[in-house]
Amino acid sequence: MKNVSILFLLIIASFMNVSAQQTVIKVSTNETDLVLKTSPLGRIYQAYFGEKLLNESEIQALSHFIARPSSDGSVTPRGWEVYPASGNEDYFEPAFAIQHNDGNMTSYLYYKSHEVKNIDSNVKETIIRLADDKYPVEVTLHYMSFAKENIIKTWTEIKHNEKKPVNISKYASAMLYFESPAYYLNEYSGDWSKEAQLSTQELKFGKKMIDTKLGSRAAMHAYPFFQIGLGEEVKEDKGKVFVGTIGWTGNFRFTFEVDNVNNLRVISGINPYASTYELKPNEIFTTPEFIFTLSYNGVGKASRDLHAWARNYQLKDGKGDRLTLLNNWEATGPNFNEEILGEWMHEAKKLGVDMFLLDDGWFGNKYPRFDDKRALGDWEPTREKLPNGVQGLVKKAKEAGVKFGLWVEPEMVNPKSELFEKHPDWAIKLPNRETYYYRSQLVLDLSNPQVQDYSFGVVDKILSENPDLAYLKWDCNSPITNIYSPYLKEKQNHLYIDHVRGFYNVIKRVTDKYPHVEIMMCSGGGARCDYEGLKYFSEFWCSDNTDPVDRLYIQWNFSQFFPIKAMAAHVTSWNKAASIKFRTDVAMMCKFGFDISLKEMNADEQKFCTEAVANYNRLKRVILDGNFFRLVSPYDGNHTSVMHVGESKDKAVLFTYDINPLYKEKYYPIKLQGLDPMKKYRIREINLMPGATSRLAENDKVYSGDYLMKIGIDAFTATRLNSRVIELTAE
Ligand code: GLA
Repeated sequence: MKNVSILFLLIIASFMNVSAQQTVIKVSTNETDLVLKTSPLGRIYQAYFGEKLLNESEIQALSHFIARPSSDGSVTPRGWEVYPASGNEDYFEPAFAIQHNDGNMTSYLYYKSHEVKNIDSNVKETIIRLADDKYPVEVTLHYMSFAKENIIKTWTEIKHNEKKPVNISKYASAMLYFESPAYYLNEYSGDWSKEAQLSTQELKFGKKMIDTKLGSRAAMHAYPFFQIGLGEEVKEDKGKVFVGTIGWTGNFRFTFEVDNVNNLRVISGINPYASTYELKPNEIFTTPEFIFTLSYNGVGKASRDLHAWARNYQLKDGKGDRLTLLNNWEATGPNFNEEILGEWMHEAKKLGVDMFLLDDGWFGNKYPRFDDKRALGDWEPTREKLPNGVQGLVKKAKEAGVKFGLWVEPEMVNPKSELFEKHPDWAIKLPNRETYYYRSQLVLDLSNPQVQDYSFGVVDKILSENPDLAYLKWDCNSPITNIYSPYLKEKQNHLYIDHVRGFYNVIKRVTDKYPHVEIMMCSGGGARCDYEGLKYFSEFWCSDNTDPVDRLYIQWNFSQFFPIKAMAAHVTSWNKAASIKFRTDVAMMCKFGFDISLKEMNADEQKFCTEAVANYNRLKRVILDGNFFRLVSPYDGNHTSVMHVGESKDKAVLFTYDINPLYKEKYYPIKLQGLDPMKKYRIREINLMPGATSRLAENDKVYSGDYLMKIGIDAFTATRLNSRVIELTAE
């Protein structure tokens, strides 16, 4: 017995010895450490993911989730393996699955080397190379950490050198593990016109999946982002929260699996549904980026970190300005002509916005686009509507003193179009089954390089012929239907992935050639909202639902993940029970525009809107680039409030909305956030209807940031659909 325990101690000691040579890799931000560590067997595990650790020696000694010696002396490789492959000793969902040339479906990945590149003083890239010991398969993990913003993004490259192509059927961007007594998932689901609706559930043993199979966009029924409250439900200002989002404008999948010991495993990546990928020798399969953060002070902090990171590093023209605009879609649909549009341009000028945006309906001659059943693909201006073409409109806008923007949908085709008549094989469509149409259109096959050239050519022609065109609204109204690419033939399993890669090829060529053009990402409302798309698009359309009440929720939810300057919001005539002021005040908290004719407004309303645009222009940098605070949630009662605080804390804008106040309801003061407690701020209510005076008790008074954050201001009212915009200026 004594001998056995001595032997066991010796084994432990030798394990400790080996462990001394274990490689420790730290991916860190200013607040968070993700510690990865090799086991004595040479595979790599997540040793820690949480608040920054202070003692280097303790980091080096971490061993909790790493392969350990068993009582019989052997070392069990089970643990939190960073990129577990199918067929190894872990019985839960793997990140990676491959079938080798000999039919073997397993892979064991061993650590080979790593390097850390300093991209700049704030950004580091850690590259970790893994390889199978029995097959020539290499996996490279990339982690890019943004110290100040507390964000990490990660992606993976897969490569092999077997004789023939191999099949990969799982290829996650990342896998992360958590140990917590409870996990609460915030997921976002919806449909056209009810985008990103929040629901919460506790994750218990087993798997929960969020995925989509829409092909041409990430979202509609499920959204490519989530939050997990660790230990308690997600809260705005307290608690530990993990927030993740995938940058992929196509099918994605998040798998949340609570295992036998109540640990949570989160796998994020492309949805491998119908997409087993055949990888040629030496071809590199690069996964999308998974972007994540941990907050120790609630989800508000995580949002602000994501916003700052996106503006600094990811969002197209993240630090640049944005154009305010007047759009004609809601008022005219496709029924307009040059003269009518000329009037709209003058209205835009009168409003004071930067640009007039012409929406759908300007193209097609053989099949003029008078409804959405024809002409997609025929990008020639309809002569009977626009005898002087787009050039004539750009000129007219110039004369009116505004910029000009144009709607396009270059990834789609209507069967009733000259393009389809000429190239029926350019559409994704089954050769042997009846065709199913979504919005009477088909998706062009962007896995085909010729179609990519066509799609780029459409936009290139418009932009090269009209160098003054300032803006595009780039739409994508149909998911992929009739899943068959005439180009890919027997490799249909590549369609979902190659199509999205084809789309990136097109949009990248456009933005490389025309970097100054602002482009809105739109997809039948807000179905395209992901961080890979936003590398090329400077904003996205949150929803066709512009009812201001619904929008308060939609905007609240998108702001969890995306910066305000990327979220387009327009004043329209949806919900006329709400005043023009309420509708304007709701749109004005985001990237602001109008989609309503001045003719629908009386003189006071017109004057109000003109003043609101002037206020927005004055406060634009604070609203678009400031820190954003969600103060009162619309989910918590009958009111909601948000605020933006400028970088220097000298200026702030507070928005308050009374949605459905109750009779004799007790109101609580709104406690502001993000101000300098030592500064004194003058309070001024703006965006008042002509002739109205502010009834805010604090109006035109001066309070310290300390007072405003600890005591707050009484800005809520008993009036239904009432709103306030309040400017704070440090004196
Ligand atoms: C989509 C967009 C709308 C509008 C129409 C035009 O639905 O979301 O804003 O542009 O297309 O057809």
